[in-house]
Amino acid sequence: MNRNFLTTADLSRSELESVLANAVEIKNAGAGTKPLAGRSVALVFLNPSLRTRASMQVGIYELGGNPVILEPGSTSWTLEHREGAVMDGDKTEHIKEFVRVLERYVSAIGVRTFAELKDWKTERTDPVLNAFARYSNVPVINLESAMHHPCQAMADMMTIREKFGNEKKKILLTWAWHPKPLPMAVPNSFALAAAQFGHDLRVAHPAAYELDPHLLRKVEAFARKAGGSVEFTHNVNEAFYDVDVVYAKSWGSKKFYGAVETEIAFRADMRNSWIVDSEKMNKTNNAVFMHCLPVRRNVIVTDDVIDSPNSVVIDEAENRLHVQKAILTELVK
Ligand code: CP
Repeated sequence: MNRNFLTTADLSRSELESVLANAVEIKNAGAGTKPLAGRSVALVFLNPSLRTRASMQVGIYELGGNPVILEPGSTSWTLEHREGAVMDGDKTEHIKEFVRVLERYVSAIGVRTFAELKDWKTERTDPVLNAFARYSNVPVINLESAMHHPCQAMADMMTIREKFGNEKKKILLTWAWHPKPLPMAVPNSFALAAAQFGHDLRVAHPAAYELDPHLLRKVEAFARKAGGSVEFTHNVNEAFYDVDVVYAKSWGSKKFYGAVETEIAFRADMRNSWIVDSEKMNKTNNAVFMHCLPVRRNVIVTDDVIDSPNSVVIDEAENRLHVQKAILTELVK
């Protein structure tokens, strides 16, 4: 497996299958061996988290290791990532020193660094995550960056397997209205992973909410290679027909990137149409409902859908623990 885990696209289908198989074994075995005994893993959070932070901390502990949580700007120094920066502003420490010091103590570094939603051209290159990867000599694990959330995507694929077995399914990734623009990491990684696992993926969103074209070319190539398919629609009423899985997520528009108020005005009249409700779920093939969480109830999804027996959002969150333990076991040697 690759030295880092930055995106599922870095791994072959057989490597992804191996991670899932190990995650299932770990889940079934309960408390198992301690491959991280005597090792420490740094978890660097530049943004808030419940699931990622708790599941990584618990997972490292259960594997016998010691999680070291750092929050730059709060419990550690503010971080600069730009090469050649003149650091006379509010950034105290460069990632070059941060990483090279940290790797003297720890066996891997997990990083959470969201998009700032200011400058698409820069943020689509995942500059902060890639600075960690560039300077680190120990494995770097992406705990959600500007463009990818691969641990979430692997937990999502594991959850779909648990519900449906190995057969390919018809999966809808649907945009949902949210009061403010959000990053694209989750839909990007979900679309990539669904294509890599050979599912038939339908992506529904309003016009102006297209995902990154470079990312979509990869999704289409993976789908072709794995025997799946990808299609796109702007029609929220037709999108739900005949699918087995509904994955809801809101994301921001590249067209309005950095212009938050303009985008909020643009999407204002989409509120009532782009919500997952029982009327839409009734058009599906008795689909399971998925969301990475946190979710805004009765904004992204109605209470009756998320509280229904078809909702697997808590299973997805649990599976974060098991897939991340499988990833840590593979990377920390
Ligand atoms: N899904 C997810 O990554 O949750 P957190 O933001 O709470 O970590």
